Amino acid sequence: MVRPLIAPSILSADFAHLADEAARVSDAAAGGGRGADWLHVDVMDAHFVPNLTLGLPVVESLLKATDIPLDCHLMIEDPDRWAPGYAEAGAHNVTVHVEAAADPVMLAKNLRAAGAKAGLSIKPGTPLDPYVEVLKHYDTLLVMSVEPGFGGQAFMPEVLDKVRAARRLVDTGHLTLLVEIDGGIAASTIEAAAEAGVDCFVAGSAVYGADDPGKAVVALREQAVAAHPRWSG
Ligand code: DX5
Ligand code: ZN
Repeated sequence: MVRPLIAPSILSADFAHLADEAARVSDAAAGGGRGADWLHVDVMDAHFVPNLTLGLPVVESLLKATDIPLDCHLMIEDPDRWAPGYAEAGAHNVTVHVEAAADPVMLAKNLRAAGAKAGLSIKPGTPLDPYVEVLKHYDTLLVMSVEPGFGGQAFMPEVLDKVRAARRLVDTGHLTLLVEIDGGIAASTIEAAAEAGVDCFVAGSAVYGADDPGKAVVALREQAVAAHPRWSG
């Protein structure tokens, strides 16, 4: 898949009309251009984070309602127990939090065996260095640029040091994964994230808060492409 990837978060969409909300960021909604690459689905359990959203039954219904690959971000306790079900259901990428996983290497193997990409997320205060060996088993690294739990928060630029470090590890062949960022990504922040080396940008309020979410996806991608020579050159 051609980078950069844009993954609108349905956390900022209308939960009563999820199929329609997915369609609003599809290729067709982007004016025949390239719409959302992934649809980001925030699963929260009111324990790992202080908020509650949706779970596997809703993801199963969404899988039937859209062709956009689902990027499931599990902000839950005991992902070792619950995450493989999302992979078995057909999610494209299943991301768990390293702060919650008991055995992240085994979990990655289980996610891949169930047919999904395996993603590992780190909260803003969690360092990258202790997890470099673990990340050899993962396909995506989700760097949180807000404290997980809510949409519409301010971007934390200090996490870009971790993005730069991850980018270096990928570019020097030490890791093989996509670097993804989540939280506060908008027209005012996406260029800094792209310059730091992000491959995949999650955006909730910047997409679903826009008058035309399909056009917002296209505009964000254009900004990311222009900000980094490896795409625009
Ligand atoms: C926050 C979620 C994000 C959220 C991002 O815990 O993981 O995916 O939807 O929303 P914005 O883009 O509005 O910060
Ligand atoms: Zn998320």
